[in-house]
Amino acid sequence: MKSITFNHQNTSAIGMGTWHIGEGNQARTESEMAALRFGLDHGINVIDTAEMYGEGKSETLIGNVIKDYSRSDFQLISKFYPFHATPKLIEQSLKASLKRLQTDYLDLYLLHWRGQTPLAETVEGLENMVQAGLIKNWGVSNFDIEDLKELNALPNGKNCRINEDLYNIGSRGIEYSILPWQKEHNMSFIAYSPFGSDGSEYLKIAPVIQEMAQQKHITAYQLLLAWVIRNHDLLSIPKSSSVEHMKQNIEAVDVSFSADELELLDKTYPAPKNEKPLDTI
Ligand SMILES: NC(=O)c1ccc[n+]([C@@H]2O[C@H](COP(=O)([O-])OP(=O)(O)OC[C@H]3O[C@@H](n4cnc5c(N)ncnc54)[C@H](OP(=O)(O)O)[C@@H]3O)[C@@H](O)[C@H]2O)c1
Repeated sequence: MKSITFNHQNTSAIGMGTWHIGEGNQARTESEMAALRFGLDHGINVIDTAEMYGEGKSETLIGNVIKDYSRSDFQLISKFYPFHATPKLIEQSLKASLKRLQTDYLDLYLLHWRGQTPLAETVEGLENMVQAGLIKNWGVSNFDIEDLKELNALPNGKNCRINEDLYNIGSRGIEYSILPWQKEHNMSFIAYSPFGSDGSEYLKIAPVIQEMAQQKHITAYQLLLAWVIRNHDLLSIPKSSSVEHMKQNIEAVDVSFSADELELLDKTYPAPKNEKPLDTI
């Protein structure tokens, strides 16, 4: 598995998303667990979850998988609701997540999206959890460029390690200022929903993708994932509920593009030419 530098560490080129897992019947649950195990067994060493995903069901399923693995072999990321963003509620949410995940620390704990709590209070709560040894580092999600700048100006705001935003071929706004700003500030970027999420309602797969995928002897989904990670400068976290999809996603890490291919894709899915409000799912 190719690696990238993420969260100041050597990390697999893709992580595993887990939204909507643990919410189905027994057969589905077994398939999701097998997919996660396959990922861990084949070099993926980051898992992304949140207290919101199935109101704890995703974390519970992950806990049942990772208890059989050495905890230091992978990074575990979870997120708390914006209405749990005060120091007291952060601690409560975190302890509940750790219990469901059957672990005693998270590598990264993220504010899922911005709410009403002043950012300074949230930073204080997160720093307390670092001091307590319950999280290694912290970050944010769904932050736009102005949110990042505001956070960066706060006491300890520069300790924010990562920001996780929507990024796929149909939603390229973050290339304009967020990605360059994060690089300049040594803050890792997590790209969520490489396929536009379940059902792909947020991403239209144009004929150019189907045709190019066919020429490259890969699937359209493999092309979409390979495109997101083409520059090896961010972590993409596809979600897959089956070993078959997980295997295809791991194979996609080795797909590369010629300059002509990238130019052709840019014609249908152009890079941003100016600042746009952040897309979110
Ligand atoms: N921070 C945030 O606010 C935020 C928001 C959204 C998502 N996320 C994170 O990002 C992760 C990924 O995003 P997402 O779950 O929204 O959607 P996604 O990864 O873009 O798409 C998931 C869909 O793609 C399918 N799929 C996966 N691999 C495939 C393959 N090789 N071929 C065909 N279909 C494939 C999945 O099917 P199967 O499940 O049947 O394999 C599922 O229907 C989430 O799980 C979550 O961890 C974060």
